[in-house]
Amino acid sequence: MDADQRSADPAIGMRAVIDSRAAIDLRAEIDHLRRERQAVILAHYYQDAEIQDLADFVGDSLQLAQAAARTDAKAIVFCGVHFMAETAKILNPSKPVWIPDREAGCSLAEGCPANAFARWLENYPGAAVVSYVNCSAAVKALSDIICTSSNAQRVVMSIPEGQRIVFAPDRHLGRYIIRKTGRDMILWPGTCQVHEVFSEKKIVQLKVRHPGAKVAAHPECDQRVLDVADHVGSTSSLLKFVQDDPAREFIIVTEPGIIHQMERSSPGKIFLPAPIEGACEACAVCPHMKRNTVEKLYLCLRDGTPEVTVPEEIRVQALVPIERMLALG
Ligand code: 13P
Ligand code: SF4
Repeated sequence: MDADQRSADPAIGMRAVIDSRAAIDLRAEIDHLRRERQAVILAHYYQDAEIQDLADFVGDSLQLAQAAARTDAKAIVFCGVHFMAETAKILNPSKPVWIPDREAGCSLAEGCPANAFARWLENYPGAAVVSYVNCSAAVKALSDIICTSSNAQRVVMSIPEGQRIVFAPDRHLGRYIIRKTGRDMILWPGTCQVHEVFSEKKIVQLKVRHPGAKVAAHPECDQRVLDVADHVGSTSSLLKFVQDDPAREFIIVTEPGIIHQMERSSPGKIFLPAPIEGACEACAVCPHMKRNTVEKLYLCLRDGTPEVTVPEEIRVQALVPIERMLALG
């Protein structure tokens, strides 16, 4: 059908009018709604680039918890996964905390149910319980101190020598911290479904094809992968490494959402997403983080839902280990 035929068709003409009325400028609407609601938009580095660009603050888990702790906004929209939004709520009981998609979970948090964790802890009476922030509020409530991948070493070193330590839920981060600190820890056997699929063999093949490339890996990866890395660290640490290091090419062994900030802060450098085991090309994308979209962000600001809630009894208990972590800086 040519253009003349289209304009002559009354049904198609009407659809075009309806479509143009329905089309909204999401960016402008989100800006308007965040001002109206006096809300702050916090986003993790693994969010889609367009969400990162809309956010008031983009960071790693620790930076986002710190931002949530100090915000004077009246409401928080958390573009990340559920445990991160829960942490913001624990720190801000009187403010609404919204998340674009309530189902944005985390394999580490889901693999450590609070009742199973409580039963497991009965085997280690008197042990200090260090929990990685990637866990539910109910697991945090059973913990002595929380850590993130940015501060796990410092948190573990803050526990007196000779004190028995249990660490949950990421066994890869736990093992990495044991090696860094020399402290013995009993590990809950959890893993991240994204970081555990990187292929050490394929990363080495990529290194051979790109001889100048440096490898930057997140500590949620398997030890074989960390062994071939030039730098291991949290998302913010990886970002800093690629900025500071003189290399021109980097192999990025974490969720590829972070590459957006790397390209912004280090124009001219090349970032290669690390390959994974098997044929799947997209398995290193966190399916939970990517549940959030700009459209869902708009709707959640417009409608004030989904709201993240935490039962008060659990919130009060979970706040103690989170505040201990934040006090360490
Ligand atoms: P960071 O704390 O390094 O941002 O990590 C969060 C996370 O979920 C890694 O998978
Ligand atoms: Fe959880 Fe892994 Fe996704 Fe991070 S990348 S949110 S640890 S599933």
